[in-house]
Amino acid sequence: MQLKKDAVILGIETSCDETAVSIVRGGREILADEIISSATEHVRFGGVVPEIASRAHTEAVQEATSRAFAAAGLGFDDIDAVAVTYGAGLLGALLVGVSYAKGLAYALDKPLVAVNHIRGHIAAAYLADKTLEPPFVTLLASGGHTAVIFVKSYTEHEVLGSTLDDAAGEAFDKVARVLGLSYPGGPNVEKLAREGKKSIAFPAMLKGTHTFDFSYSGLKTSVVNYVHTKSQKGEEFSAADVAASFQSAALDVLADKLFSAAEKCGIKTVAAGGGVAANGYLREELSRRAAEKGFKLVLPERRYCTDNGCMIAAEGYIQYSSGNFAGLDLNAKASIPLKNALRGGAGKE
Ligand code: KG4
Ligand code: ZN
Repeated sequence: MQLKKDAVILGIETSCDETAVSIVRGGREILADEIISSATEHVRFGGVVPEIASRAHTEAVQEATSRAFAAAGLGFDDIDAVAVTYGAGLLGALLVGVSYAKGLAYALDKPLVAVNHIRGHIAAAYLADKTLEPPFVTLLASGGHTAVIFVKSYTEHEVLGSTLDDAAGEAFDKVARVLGLSYPGGPNVEKLAREGKKSIAFPAMLKGTHTFDFSYSGLKTSVVNYVHTKSQKGEEFSAADVAASFQSAALDVLADKLFSAAEKCGIKTVAAGGGVAANGYLREELSRRAAEKGFKLVLPERRYCTDNGCMIAAEGYIQYSSGNFAGLDLNAKASIPLKNALRGGAGKE
């Protein structure tokens, strides 16, 4: 098969509560970017309900795909491959995207490409800066992962450090719940934090440069204990101060470790991806430090930090260019260890 440098990839993402379908040319140029979210359906449950998410994907995937082709002004025959998130994520939700992508690839006689969601988040940086090339060091901070990763080439990644327990996004979601904020937790904690002061000394975990690993369970427990103790004693406290203090304890360490890991690798280009990288406080910290230290920072727009289809098409293009195609026996995977996710051929773990 002849690989096309300007290959047009359809990207389908259904791992959580967003049905996202995109069309990207040459791994960099966004031709269509459609998202139908079921987030509002989950609000009253305080988190994503897998069955509701799966049903919503089933209802939305065709519509999102039609909209993407219409927005790009392309027909089915104009795409070169169908890329789909096969893991990690909610199994039933993933299966909707995987089944739909398989059907489309088979019917159109186009190659199917399996994309690992985490690698999609990393690839979002290529959309943000069309000149970006590896090597660079990236921060991955989502609802399931927190890691600093050395991107040595488009397909070679080394985990320099990762969380030993909870992910940063998970801690935001938990803190949101204890503060009585509704789902989605992260953006609501950020909003509340803007009204507060960093006045409470929550423990900053695994600080320093002896390790690039992270730990969020101690910080999370400490915030939960603070709120519960105050409530039980009937003492007043400022929820906004809790949010602001938690936010800086949770995020400063991410910025610290990203830059110190890059310095250790002798790399002057850093990037970030994953839902937590949409956080305004973190974005400011990263920008400030990059300017101070003379680093080039590639920060995808907020909507390309949270789940989207473009990042799946961007990573799909990398897999397509490497000739890594999936068979129609491709299955969805609920969990994939980070090290496996970053190894060579996606879909073959
Ligand atoms: O990457 P993502 O959209 O989905 C996963 O792959 O997990 O990340 C979702 C996570 C959630 O935990 C959410 O609370 C967090 O990212 N998040 C944020 C913000 N926006 C999303 N955390 C802090 N501040 C935000 N603005
Ligand atoms: Zn994600």
